[in-house]
Amino acid sequence: MIRKLIATTAALYAASLMVTGLSLADENARGRALFDLCAQCHGSAAQGTELYLAPAIAGLDEWYVISQLNVFKSGARGLNYQDVGGMRMHPMSLWLKTDDDVQAIASYVASLPKVNPPTVVHGGNAADGKTLYATCSACHGQAGEGNKSMNSPPLSHMSDWYLVSTLQKFKEGIRGGNPANTNAVLMRGMSNMLTTDQAIKDVVAYISTLK
Ligand code: HEC
Ligand code: HEC
Repeated sequence: MIRKLIATTAALYAASLMVTGLSLADENARGRALFDLCAQCHGSAAQGTELYLAPAIAGLDEWYVISQLNVFKSGARGLNYQDVGGMRMHPMSLWLKTDDDVQAIASYVASLPKVNPPTVVHGGNAADGKTLYATCSACHGQAGEGNKSMNSPPLSHMSDWYLVSTLQKFKEGIRGGNPANTNAVLMRGMSNMLTTDQAIKDVVAYISTLK
């Protein structure tokens, strides 16, 4: 009797493992298939393509990819006519029809190995940037690893040109100008502590050392 029970329990356990295994595999296959479109701009390894203004997204946290795809979809990000990159990404997000598609692509993007994009922004002073970054680290983490509980994405492994352009867009309210995008509104306020273009370059030079 006991042996039969153990055998049944083991069989049930194995069956449940198979079910979870299968659905995960399905989700991964769906994410991979959907990524064909994304790869056209973000690159096949999601390493980013500056020419298309598409940043590296490889290994970005799943929660952040989901949140950004949803703000793009709603138009809270990427509908400002001065936001050339955002206006390219907005229609792409609409191509993801269901929450399941968003979930599948986000988990696929998060599973890709992080990259170290090449340095293309020059003239920043990383030592000065380190001083500035002390404030940023309260939300983005000492090593730029991000902090989900603060809705703050990782900054390490991002394209340096994108960090510069996105900080400029925050300062000008091109990103974070729509009150519906509350996290971006918060970050817009923070960006004002970078008072000059040199300060932006300096903090990005420091962030680029966090690999
Ligand atoms: C036509 C080119 C293009 C395609 C195709 C495209 N993207 Fe983008 N994507 C961009 C650009 C440009 C940006 C930068 C927007 C900005 O500067 O604010 C971006 C930004 C993003 C961001 C925000 C990154 C961040 O750090 O905030 C995510 C996430 C993203 N794309 C995911 C995707 C996914 C997933 C797909 C496929 C469904 C996709 N993209 C397809 C051009 C594209
Ligand atoms: C109070 C918390 C907080 C502080 C301090 C802060 N940030 Fe942010 N930051 C955020 C949040 C939240 C977001 C996400 C915005 C969104 O969802 O659009 C963000 C987004 C960003 C992004 C966009 C990343 C991407 O992938 O598009 C950059 C770049 C950034 N922050 C840099 C900085 C820098 C540099 C500093 C210091 C000068 C700083 N942040 C200070 C909360 C903060």
